[in-house]
Amino acid sequence: MERLLINGGRKLDGEVQISGAKNAVLPILAASLLTNGCCVIKNVPKLDDVYVMLSVLEELSVRVSWQRNELRLDCSRVAPAAPNPEILGKIRASNLILGPLLGRFKEAEIGACGGCSIGSRPMNLHFAALEVLGAKVLPLEAGYFVFAKALRGGEVHLAFPSVGATENLLMAASLAEGKTVLYNAATEPEIVDLAGFINAMGGKISGAGSDVITIEGVKRLGGAEYTIMPDRIETGTLLVAGAMCGGRLHLSGARPEHNQALLQALQQAGISFTYNIGDSKESFIEICGCAGRPLPLQITTASYPGFPTDMQPQLAAMLSLSQGQSVICERIFENRFRFVDELKKMGASIQLRGNCAIIDGVTRLHGMSVCATDLRAGAAMVLAGLAATGRTVVEQVEYIDRGYEDFAGKLNCLGADICRLDNFGNEKGCKLVV
Ligand code: UD1
Repeated sequence: MERLLINGGRKLDGEVQISGAKNAVLPILAASLLTNGCCVIKNVPKLDDVYVMLSVLEELSVRVSWQRNELRLDCSRVAPAAPNPEILGKIRASNLILGPLLGRFKEAEIGACGGCSIGSRPMNLHFAALEVLGAKVLPLEAGYFVFAKALRGGEVHLAFPSVGATENLLMAASLAEGKTVLYNAATEPEIVDLAGFINAMGGKISGAGSDVITIEGVKRLGGAEYTIMPDRIETGTLLVAGAMCGGRLHLSGARPEHNQALLQALQQAGISFTYNIGDSKESFIEICGCAGRPLPLQITTASYPGFPTDMQPQLAAMLSLSQGQSVICERIFENRFRFVDELKKMGASIQLRGNCAIIDGVTRLHGMSVCATDLRAGAAMVLAGLAATGRTVVEQVEYIDRGYEDFAGKLNCLGADICRLDNFGNEKGCKLVV
């Protein structure tokens, strides 16, 4: 396993471009299976979950070629097949091939899908939604075979606004006969991006971004060209880095309207920022750090537009340095506080009570050897290391590689001192002398 070595205490300052959104590109890559044409996807972040998703598509005979951050997907030879379970098992989002394969071929076989160990992550809501359209689900020894004689639109009520279940349903219903209305749909911006891509392919989806989405099934979908939205979680992570490490960070392309819950929290914590809402070239958020220690906060994670669970560990790292007692309650995933023990090794004072963390702010964190226990937890440990005194080593950096494009490189451009060490302790991509 590779690791990051961080010399803490550097001020961050400068401008950085936000990458395309991981959670938007993964369903959009899956949606390319809906066509037998060619798709060109722009602003694709180069990160490990994307590479795994492309391997899944290649297993299904999609031909993939890169040009910088642009992907060309030739889907003319796609045929239903059961992709290698080992590849599927690497990421949770591989379950998103279910909707498009069912829509196009009326059958899909998937092995057990993987992902971060942040919770049990069942598929019941996906299946219940697809069953309304006429799908049948056969559990296999490891995974599922889902099939339908015919897919017909219907009224679907999700018991919880699951992001993945909403996405799978949008994809399957786009090639079903007739109209589907989805109630209690997830409202995340990534759902809007997926609907935008399917509509660019010739689909008829309206209402994405609200909790009622209407999908008029069409006979076939064609190829499309599409640009992925900027990553709101990368944006949020860098905002918190700026809040913890002072200086002025200008996040180009960041979409303030996608980060309202976090911006509100930062404002309450006493952190100042400015922003511009515009098209992708004009849109930005600029953060000016915090004059002193941040004020404590009470935060509960929720579905969009609530506070995102994917920003909870990073915010906890910031609040571990606040001027009082904060409480963070996690309502989306049951196992999302595994980073707490790691943060405590650095001097944080945190107690867990059920699904809440009680954080008593301390004046400083100190460098230590810690583990990235999952993707966002790993990002939180890097932020803690940047703000800490001395050296921090973050082990299992592969988790971070799954969801951030060149995380350490971007932070180094802003003035951080992060060095990557390979399995043998050799330096890779170090900016400064360690
Ligand atoms: C997506 C995001 C992930 C984010 C999460 C919540 C992607 C690739 N991943 O994950 O980064 O943290 O949304 O914003 O976009 N659930 C069920 N049954 C189901 C489906 C979900 O009980 O069939 C539960 C899950 O266990 C979890 C909650 O619903 O507790 C939220 O899951 P969901 O919204 O589906 O998240 P994902 O799509 O997996």
